[in-house]
Amino acid sequence: MISVSFLKSKYSREETIKLIDNSDASLIHVDLMDGEYVPNKNFTLEEIMLLLNKTKKPLDIHLMVKNPLIYIKELVKLKPYIITIHLDGTPNIEETLAYIRSHHIKVGVAINPDESEHIVDKYLDKIDYVLIMSVYPGAGGQKFISEVLEKVNYLKDKFLVGIDGGVNDESIKYLKDYPLDIVVSGSFICMSDNFNERIHLLEKNLPKA
Ligand code: DX5
Ligand code: ZN
Repeated sequence: MISVSFLKSKYSREETIKLIDNSDASLIHVDLMDGEYVPNKNFTLEEIMLLLNKTKKPLDIHLMVKNPLIYIKELVKLKPYIITIHLDGTPNIEETLAYIRSHHIKVGVAINPDESEHIVDKYLDKIDYVLIMSVYPGAGGQKFISEVLEKVNYLKDKFLVGIDGGVNDESIKYLKDYPLDIVVSGSFICMSDNFNERIHLLEKNLPKA
């Protein structure tokens, strides 16, 4: 499944979201940054709720924030498909994971390029999805770090697995031996004139999960 991030786009926020919503993407990837967990800050909770309360496609929310539970308590109202958190930004991990699941939302954990795939070992039965970061969180349009793919094999029989950051027509070649459940792509799609053309190009070059 292709999940499209609207962090970096040549269109306005509203327009980009509409274009993704009307495209052949499977999911809308929502990056939320608080200026604390990562240096950049993009939206307030109020803005994100307004931007996304009328979209048709399932939402794949990626929280790059300190203390995600505060955000999650509001975001559950959007009925997202997945909510993904970073464990190193989360003071009350067990409670946060359980809260997401209690709302019948898939529980995601993101693994930064410098973090080991084993950070999820303690929470094996509390997590549904692992998002392998192929860039350092904080900005769209960065270069794909192919070494992170070494984490896929350990994770793939245990969870749904996705990759996020720097996926484009060039870096896609690294994914050919790694069937992934979700591939996030942002600027490659949103900086283009034809979202579907780019989504289909990625799909065509990805192995079947
Ligand atoms: C990075 C974000 C990614 C990013 C993807 O902090 O989590 O989702 O926006 O965008 P591209 O594909 O441009 O790297
Ligand atoms: Zn993301």
